Amino acid sequence: MGMRFEGKVAVVTGAGSGIGAATALGFAAEGAAVAVNDIDSDTADKTVAEILAAGGKAMSIACDISNTAEVEAAAAEVVSKFGQIDILVNNAGMPSAAPAEEYTQFERVMAVNLGGAFHWAKAAAVQSMIGNRSGSIINISSLAGLAAIASDVGYTSTKHGLIGLTKALALDWAPYGIRVNCVAPGLTNSLMVAEAIEQFPEFMKTRIGRIPIGRVAEPLDQAKAIMFLASDDAAYITGVTIPVDGGQMAMNSGYSPTR
Ligand SMILES: NC(=O)c1ccc[n+]([C@@H]2O[C@H](COP(=O)([O-])OP(=O)(O)OC[C@H]3O[C@@H](n4cnc5c(N)ncnc54)[C@H](O)[C@@H]3O)[C@@H](O)[C@H]2O)c1
Repeated sequence: MGMRFEGKVAVVTGAGSGIGAATALGFAAEGAAVAVNDIDSDTADKTVAEILAAGGKAMSIACDISNTAEVEAAAAEVVSKFGQIDILVNNAGMPSAAPAEEYTQFERVMAVNLGGAFHWAKAAAVQSMIGNRSGSIINISSLAGLAAIASDVGYTSTKHGLIGLTKALALDWAPYGIRVNCVAPGLTNSLMVAEAIEQFPEFMKTRIGRIPIGRVAEPLDQAKAIMFLASDDAAYITGVTIPVDGGQMAMNSGYSPTR
Protein backbone atom coordinates (compact mmCIF):
# COMPACT_ATOMS: atom_id res chain seq x y z
CA MET A 1 0.00 0.00 0.00
CA GLY A 2 2.98 2.29 0.51
CA MET A 3 3.06 5.46 2.60
CA ARG A 4 -0.01 7.37 1.50
CA PHE A 5 0.06 9.89 4.36
CA GLU A 6 3.73 10.92 4.58
CA GLY A 7 3.90 14.56 5.71
CA LYS A 8 0.19 14.64 6.59
CA VAL A 9 -1.33 15.40 9.98
CA ALA A 10 -4.38 13.42 11.09
CA VAL A 11 -6.67 14.02 14.07
CA VAL A 12 -8.68 10.99 15.22
CA THR A 13 -11.30 11.42 17.95
CA GLY A 14 -12.22 8.57 20.28
CA ALA A 15 -8.90 6.96 19.34
CA GLY A 16 -8.30 5.35 22.73
CA SER A 17 -9.98 2.12 21.64
CA GLY A 18 -11.80 0.22 18.92
CA ILE A 19 -12.22 1.70 15.45
CA GLY A 20 -10.52 4.98 16.41
CA ALA A 21 -7.41 3.26 17.77
CA ALA A 22 -7.11 1.05 14.67
CA THR A 23 -7.50 4.14 12.48
CA ALA A 24 -4.89 6.17 14.39
CA LEU A 25 -2.42 3.26 14.17
CA GLY A 26 -3.21 2.84 10.47
CA PHE A 27 -2.56 6.49 9.59
CA ALA A 28 0.67 6.48 11.62
CA ALA A 29 1.86 3.28 9.92
CA GLU A 30 1.47 5.05 6.57
CA GLY A 31 3.47 8.09 7.60
CA ALA A 32 1.01 10.57 9.14
CA ALA A 33 1.64 12.43 12.38
CA VAL A 34 -1.44 11.57 14.44
CA ALA A 35 -3.18 13.62 17.14
CA VAL A 36 -5.00 11.15 19.36
CA ASN A 37 -8.16 12.40 21.05
CA ASP A 38 -10.22 10.58 23.64
CA ILE A 39 -12.23 11.60 26.69
CA ASP A 40 -10.16 8.99 28.56
CA SER A 41 -6.60 10.34 28.68
CA ASP A 42 -5.17 6.96 29.79
CA THR A 43 -6.40 5.17 26.68
CA ALA A 44 -5.35 8.11 24.48
CA ASP A 45 -1.86 7.89 25.99
CA LYS A 46 -1.83 4.16 25.33
CA THR A 47 -2.55 4.67 21.62
CA VAL A 48 0.13 7.38 21.45
CA ALA A 49 2.63 5.03 23.13
CA GLU A 50 1.82 2.26 20.62
CA ILE A 51 2.39 4.62 17.69
CA LEU A 52 5.67 5.91 19.13
CA ALA A 53 6.84 2.33 19.88
CA ALA A 54 6.21 1.45 16.22
CA GLY A 55 8.39 4.40 15.15
CA GLY A 56 5.52 6.73 14.30
CA LYS A 57 4.68 10.31 15.23
CA ALA A 58 1.84 11.08 17.65
CA MET A 59 0.56 13.43 20.35
CA SER A 60 -2.28 13.14 22.83
CA ILE A 61 -5.09 15.71 22.78
CA ALA A 62 -7.41 14.13 25.31
CA CYS A 63 -10.62 16.10 25.89
CA ASP A 64 -14.39 15.75 25.92
CA ILE A 65 -15.46 16.55 22.35
CA SER A 66 -18.75 18.01 23.57
CA ASN A 67 -16.77 20.89 25.11
CA THR A 68 -16.35 23.37 22.24
CA ALA A 69 -13.68 25.47 23.96
CA GLU A 70 -11.61 22.36 24.66
CA VAL A 71 -11.98 21.23 21.04
CA GLU A 72 -10.80 24.63 19.75
CA ALA A 73 -7.83 24.54 22.14
CA ALA A 74 -6.96 20.98 21.11
CA ALA A 75 -7.04 21.93 17.42
CA ALA A 76 -4.74 24.88 18.18
CA GLU A 77 -2.35 22.54 19.99
CA VAL A 78 -2.17 20.26 16.95
CA VAL A 79 -1.51 23.19 14.59
CA SER A 80 1.16 24.57 16.91
CA LYS A 81 2.95 21.22 17.35
CA PHE A 82 2.43 19.51 13.95
CA GLY A 83 1.91 22.62 11.75
CA GLN A 84 -1.50 21.85 10.20
CA ILE A 85 -4.50 19.51 10.13
CA ASP A 86 -4.92 17.61 6.85
CA ILE A 87 -7.26 14.86 7.98
CA LEU A 88 -9.96 14.76 10.66
CA VAL A 89 -11.76 11.56 11.64
CA ASN A 90 -14.82 12.27 13.79
CA ASN A 91 -15.04 8.81 15.35
CA ALA A 92 -15.83 9.40 19.04
CA GLY A 93 -19.37 8.48 19.93
CA MET A 94 -21.54 7.08 22.65
CA PRO A 95 -24.45 4.67 22.54
CA SER A 96 -27.33 4.90 24.99
CA ALA A 97 -30.32 2.69 25.64
CA ALA A 98 -33.91 3.32 26.68
CA PRO A 99 -37.28 3.31 24.99
CA ALA A 100 -38.13 6.79 23.67
CA GLU A 101 -40.82 7.45 26.30
CA GLU A 102 -38.23 6.96 29.06
CA TYR A 103 -35.25 8.49 27.30
CA THR A 104 -33.34 11.14 29.26
CA GLN A 105 -29.95 11.35 27.51
CA PHE A 106 -30.97 13.26 24.37
CA GLU A 107 -29.00 16.48 25.02
CA ARG A 108 -25.82 14.66 26.06
CA VAL A 109 -25.86 12.25 23.10
CA MET A 110 -26.55 15.15 20.69
CA ALA A 111 -23.70 17.19 22.18
CA VAL A 112 -21.20 14.33 21.88
CA ASN A 113 -22.12 12.44 18.71
CA LEU A 114 -23.26 15.35 16.54
CA GLY A 115 -22.08 18.52 18.30
CA GLY A 116 -18.58 17.13 18.85
CA ALA A 117 -18.23 16.25 15.17
CA PHE A 118 -19.42 19.68 14.01
CA HIS A 119 -17.20 21.63 16.40
CA TRP A 120 -14.14 19.54 15.49
CA ALA A 121 -14.84 20.01 11.78
CA LYS A 122 -15.27 23.77 12.22
CA ALA A 123 -12.11 24.09 14.31
CA ALA A 124 -10.03 22.07 11.81
CA ALA A 125 -11.44 24.03 8.86
CA VAL A 126 -11.06 27.48 10.41
CA GLN A 127 -7.67 26.89 12.01
CA SER A 128 -6.04 25.01 9.13
CA MET A 129 -7.92 23.47 6.20
CA ILE A 130 -9.60 26.57 4.72
CA GLY A 131 -6.33 28.54 4.72
CA ASN A 132 -4.47 25.59 3.19
CA ARG A 133 -7.20 25.03 0.57
CA SER A 134 -7.00 21.33 1.39
CA GLY A 135 -8.41 18.79 3.81
CA SER A 136 -10.34 15.58 4.26
CA ILE A 137 -12.92 14.98 6.98
CA ILE A 138 -14.47 11.59 7.67
CA ASN A 139 -17.46 11.29 10.01
CA ILE A 140 -18.27 7.92 11.58
CA SER A 141 -21.98 7.22 11.50
CA SER A 142 -23.48 3.73 11.84
CA LEU A 143 -26.13 1.52 10.29
CA ALA A 144 -28.20 3.43 12.88
CA GLY A 145 -27.68 6.40 10.55
CA LEU A 146 -29.45 4.58 7.73
CA ALA A 147 -32.16 2.76 9.69
CA ALA A 148 -33.31 2.84 13.30
CA ILE A 149 -32.06 0.87 16.28
CA ALA A 150 -34.86 0.06 18.73
CA SER A 151 -34.64 1.75 22.14
CA ASP A 152 -32.00 4.28 21.18
CA VAL A 153 -33.67 7.40 19.80
CA GLY A 154 -30.63 9.56 20.62
CA TYR A 155 -28.08 7.33 18.90
CA THR A 156 -30.31 6.82 15.86
CA SER A 157 -31.04 10.57 15.55
CA THR A 158 -27.41 11.64 15.87
CA LYS A 159 -26.13 8.96 13.50
CA HIS A 160 -28.71 10.08 10.89
CA GLY A 161 -27.60 13.64 11.67
CA LEU A 162 -23.98 12.85 10.90
CA ILE A 163 -24.97 11.88 7.34
CA GLY A 164 -26.68 15.27 6.92
CA LEU A 165 -23.70 17.05 8.50
CA THR A 166 -21.45 15.30 5.98
CA LYS A 167 -23.49 16.57 3.03
CA ALA A 168 -23.83 20.12 4.41
CA LEU A 169 -20.11 20.51 5.13
CA ALA A 170 -19.19 18.93 1.76
CA LEU A 171 -21.17 21.69 -0.01
CA ASP A 172 -19.91 24.59 2.09
CA TRP A 173 -16.26 23.59 1.90
CA ALA A 174 -15.87 22.10 -1.60
CA PRO A 175 -14.69 25.54 -2.84
CA TYR A 176 -11.83 25.30 -0.33
CA GLY A 177 -10.64 21.88 -1.47
CA ILE A 178 -11.99 20.18 1.64
CA ARG A 179 -13.73 16.84 1.12
CA VAL A 180 -16.19 15.56 3.71
CA ASN A 181 -17.37 11.95 3.72
CA CYS A 182 -18.88 9.42 6.07
CA VAL A 183 -18.43 5.76 6.95
CA ALA A 184 -21.39 3.82 8.35
CA PRO A 185 -19.98 0.77 10.15
CA GLY A 186 -21.98 -2.37 10.73
CA LEU A 187 -21.40 -4.49 13.82
CA THR A 188 -17.67 -4.16 14.55
CA ASN A 189 -15.54 -6.18 16.96
CA SER A 190 -15.09 -3.64 19.77
CA LEU A 191 -14.94 -4.37 23.49
CA MET A 192 -18.68 -3.81 23.73
CA VAL A 193 -19.46 -6.30 20.97
CA ALA A 194 -17.08 -8.90 22.49
CA GLU A 195 -18.86 -8.49 25.83
CA ALA A 196 -22.26 -8.86 24.17
CA ILE A 197 -21.15 -12.08 22.46
CA GLU A 198 -20.05 -13.44 25.84
CA GLN A 199 -23.20 -12.29 27.67
CA PHE A 200 -25.84 -13.08 25.06
CA PRO A 201 -24.35 -15.84 22.90
CA GLU A 202 -27.64 -17.00 21.32
CA PHE A 203 -28.92 -13.49 20.56
CA MET A 204 -25.57 -12.48 19.07
CA LYS A 205 -25.36 -15.70 17.03
CA THR A 206 -28.69 -14.83 15.40
CA ARG A 207 -27.57 -11.21 14.95
CA ILE A 208 -24.30 -12.22 13.30
CA GLY A 209 -26.17 -14.82 11.23
CA ARG A 210 -27.97 -11.90 9.55
CA ILE A 211 -24.71 -10.48 8.18
CA PRO A 212 -24.34 -11.71 4.57
CA ILE A 213 -20.52 -11.82 4.79
CA GLY A 214 -20.96 -14.02 7.87
CA ARG A 215 -18.79 -12.30 10.44
CA VAL A 216 -18.60 -9.06 12.40
CA ALA A 217 -16.23 -6.42 11.04
CA GLU A 218 -12.81 -5.95 12.58
CA PRO A 219 -11.82 -2.37 13.50
CA LEU A 220 -9.24 -2.58 10.70
CA ASP A 221 -12.03 -3.15 8.14
CA GLN A 222 -13.41 0.26 9.15
CA ALA A 223 -9.97 1.88 9.31
CA LYS A 224 -9.19 0.80 5.73
CA ALA A 225 -12.37 2.44 4.39
CA ILE A 226 -11.63 5.60 6.41
CA MET A 227 -8.06 5.76 5.07
CA PHE A 228 -9.29 5.27 1.50
CA LEU A 229 -11.63 8.26 1.86
CA ALA A 230 -8.79 10.32 3.37
CA SER A 231 -6.38 9.41 0.57
CA ASP A 232 -5.86 10.98 -2.87
CA ASP A 233 -7.51 7.90 -4.40
CA ALA A 234 -10.78 9.49 -3.22
CA ALA A 235 -9.94 12.93 -4.67
CA TYR A 236 -13.30 13.22 -6.49
CA ILE A 237 -15.44 11.78 -3.69
CA THR A 238 -17.24 14.16 -1.35
CA GLY A 239 -20.53 14.22 0.52
CA VAL A 240 -21.06 10.45 0.45
CA THR A 241 -21.71 7.80 3.08
CA ILE A 242 -20.19 4.35 2.62
CA PRO A 243 -21.72 1.50 4.62
CA VAL A 244 -18.98 -0.93 5.71
CA ASP A 245 -21.37 -3.59 6.87
CA GLY A 246 -20.71 -6.97 5.28
CA GLY A 247 -23.77 -6.53 3.06
CA GLN A 248 -26.37 -5.83 5.75
CA MET A 249 -27.97 -2.79 4.11
CA ALA A 250 -28.22 -4.80 0.88
CA MET A 251 -30.70 -7.18 2.51
CA ASN A 252 -32.91 -4.83 4.48
CA SER A 253 -35.95 -6.76 3.29
CA GLY A 254 -37.07 -8.73 6.31
CA TYR A 255 -35.70 -11.92 4.79
CA SER A 256 -32.75 -13.88 6.16
CA PRO A 257 -29.52 -13.84 4.08
CA THR A 258 -30.02 -17.44 2.89
CA ARG A 259 -33.08 -19.31 1.64
N1 LIG B 1 -18.56 -1.16 17.13
C1 LIG B 1 -19.62 -1.10 16.37
O1 LIG B 1 -20.28 -2.14 16.15
C2 LIG B 1 -20.04 0.18 15.73
C3 LIG B 1 -21.05 0.12 14.76
C4 LIG B 1 -21.46 1.30 14.15
C5 LIG B 1 -20.89 2.51 14.49
N2 LIG B 1 -19.92 2.55 15.44
C6 LIG B 1 -19.36 3.87 15.76
O2 LIG B 1 -17.96 3.85 15.64
C7 LIG B 1 -17.39 4.79 16.55
C8 LIG B 1 -16.31 4.10 17.37
O3 LIG B 1 -16.90 3.09 18.13
P1 LIG B 1 -16.14 1.79 18.71
O4 LIG B 1 -16.98 0.64 18.39
O5 LIG B 1 -14.72 1.80 18.30
O6 LIG B 1 -16.36 2.04 20.27
P2 LIG B 1 -15.36 2.33 21.47
O7 LIG B 1 -16.23 2.50 22.66
O8 LIG B 1 -14.30 1.29 21.49
O9 LIG B 1 -14.69 3.72 21.07
C9 LIG B 1 -15.31 4.96 21.27
C10 LIG B 1 -14.30 5.88 21.91
O10 LIG B 1 -14.86 7.19 21.99
C11 LIG B 1 -14.51 7.75 23.22
N3 LIG B 1 -15.45 8.79 23.61
C12 LIG B 1 -16.72 8.65 24.06
N4 LIG B 1 -17.26 9.83 24.35
C13 LIG B 1 -16.30 10.77 24.11
C14 LIG B 1 -16.26 12.18 24.24
N5 LIG B 1 -17.29 12.86 24.71
N6 LIG B 1 -15.11 12.82 23.89
C15 LIG B 1 -14.04 12.13 23.44
N7 LIG B 1 -14.04 10.78 23.30
C16 LIG B 1 -15.15 10.12 23.64
C17 LIG B 1 -14.53 6.58 24.19
O11 LIG B 1 -13.78 6.85 25.36
C18 LIG B 1 -13.94 5.44 23.34
O12 LIG B 1 -12.53 5.32 23.48
C19 LIG B 1 -18.55 5.36 17.36
O13 LIG B 1 -18.94 6.60 16.83
C20 LIG B 1 -19.63 4.33 17.18
O14 LIG B 1 -20.92 4.89 17.32
C21 LIG B 1 -19.48 1.42 16.07
